[in-house]
Formats: sequence, structure tokens, C-alpha cells
Amino acid sequence: MVATNSQQYLEFDLKRYLAAQQAQVEAALARSIDVVYPEKIYEAMRYSLMAGGKRLRPILCLATCQLIGGTTAMAMSTACALEMIHTMSLIHDDLPAMDNDDFRRGKPTNHKVYGEDIAILAGDGLLAYAFEFIAAQTQDVPADRVLQVIAKLGRAVGAAGLVGGQVVDLECEGRSDVTVDTLTYIHRHKTGALLEAAVVCGAILAGANEGDRQRLSEYAQNIGLAFQIIDDVLDITATQEELGKTAGKDLQAQKATYPSFWGIEESKRQADQLVNEAKANLAAYGESAYPLMALADYITARKN
Ligand code: FPP
Ligand code: MG
Repeated sequence: MVATNSQQYLEFDLKRYLAAQQAQVEAALARSIDVVYPEKIYEAMRYSLMAGGKRLRPILCLATCQLIGGTTAMAMSTACALEMIHTMSLIHDDLPAMDNDDFRRGKPTNHKVYGEDIAILAGDGLLAYAFEFIAAQTQDVPADRVLQVIAKLGRAVGAAGLVGGQVVDLECEGRSDVTVDTLTYIHRHKTGALLEAAVVCGAILAGANEGDRQRLSEYAQNIGLAFQIIDDVLDITATQEELGKTAGKDLQAQKATYPSFWGIEESKRQADQLVNEAKANLAAYGESAYPLMALADYITARKN
């Protein structure tokens, strides 16, 4: 636990903060895509984008931009783009060629509703639109920062990030010789890269210096890994209703997970330790970092 802030941030009303931020993100996402000809593809894109979710990546981006002195308006287009990219990665992850899942965010998966062909294209459409959206819609931010955000996000989603992590994940399925290092590679790329990009992009938009970017990147890497450890735990301990997706899938698919190496209690302890390190990364910012500190706690306390 971070002693520097006398744990005052615990009094920060995260529930209220999350509800307010989520409402702003939902409204911006709802405005982001119009349904025009050919309607089917726009409907498929909106179906998954507007299916709820924690909106953690957009909220991290907005919170970091504010921490560095920027505004919500400066970061909202990137925040929406992060959710578009996250959503497309889940649409593709759920396809029969990958995890073959029927439920996501409490609803039938995209391919179950629109068919595999449209689901692939809905993912492609969201990915391309995310970059267009940042380039065309970001306001009141110098162009060189916008360019840096686009480069950062491109790297985070490609073979050096999400795509690379997903490839190793698929390669490891059903294998009994997966090491903790390989598992950590998977999660640092498949989940961690986009969370880190969310935080660092928020900082870039606000004009953060190199020291801030480095500190915030470390914070994000710590919560990213904690997030995935807890995801693995919840896959075992939570119900389908709580998760909004099929529970127990990892065991069924014989996936290596943190609990399969360490057990549930030790996994939770490791996640807590990472969250504490994440909060320590923020010590220099004082009260301004309360939202990011509370968000780090939320990673381990969440039920879905
Ligand atoms: C869910 O993991 C999946 C991801 C976090 C990302 C998957 C990445 C891709 C499909 C690559 C997408 C392509 C681009 C260009 C970004 P999980 O299966 O462990 O979790 P789940 O139980 O929620 O499905
Ligand atoms: Mg999956």
C-alpha cells in the first residue's frame, strides 16, 4: 500500500467517478458511428461497440490526460478509438477460428448475430475507423502529438502488441509445456499493450514529458498484468451472469493461466502486489493521481 498519500485516495468516490466517466464515454461512442448504406455493417459495428463493458481503456486515457493537465475534450476521440479497437479484438477473438465463443458482454457474440463474414468485416471496419476517428476528430491538440498517438496505438495493436500476444496464445492452447514467462509474454501483449497505450496516449495528448510518460507507462504495465491475473481468477470463480461471457473456458480449452501455475490465492496476492507497485509509480503526483490510484484498486476488486 502506498504510504505517501496517507491512503487518502481511498476516500475518493470511485463509483461516482466511474459512473460519470462511463456516461460521457457512452454518449461519445453513441455519436461516433452513424448507420448509413450499407446499413448491415454499421449495425454490426454498433452492436458490439454499444454492448456495454467497463470502458476501462477510454477512462484510463481520459484520467491520464487530466492528470497531466489536459482536458476531457482533448482525449475523447482517442478514448473512443481505444474502445473501438478493444471491441474489434473481442469480435475477432470470439470467432470460431479463434476462441469460438457464443456470449460477450451479456449478449450473443457478433458472429452469432451477423454471421462470420460480417463479424470479420465489422472488426476490420472498427479497426480502420478508430485511426480515422483520431486523425479526423481530435481537437485542440498539436498535430505532432496526434501523430505520436497514432504511431503508439498502431504499434500496440499490431504484431508487436495485441496480434503478437494472440498468436502466442493460440500456439500455446492445449500444450502442457507452457512456462510462466510465455504466459506473461502473452498477457503483456494481448491485454497489457492496449492498456498501456491507453494511459500513455492520454499523457501524450496532454503534452507529458519523457519522465511522466515513463512513470505512467510503468503504472499501466503493472495494472495490465494485474488485470489479466484477475481475469484468469474470475474465469474460475465467477459465474456466466457475472462475467457476461462463458465462464470456465480456460480450463475447458486447457489454457495455461496464472491460477494453473500458482493457485487462486497466490494469484490474487501477485495481482495485489502489482497494483501496489502501480500506485507507487504515481506517488509523485499527489492528489491529482487519486482517480488512477482508485482505478488500480478497481482492477483487483472487480467482479467482471
Ligand atoms: C481476449 O482474450 C482477447 C484479447 C484481449 C485480444 C485478442 C486479439 C486479437 C483477436 C487480435 C485482434 C486484431 C487486431 C488488429 C487488434 P481471452 O480470450 O483470454 O479473454 P476472453 O475470455 O474475454 O475471451
Ligand atoms: Mg477469448
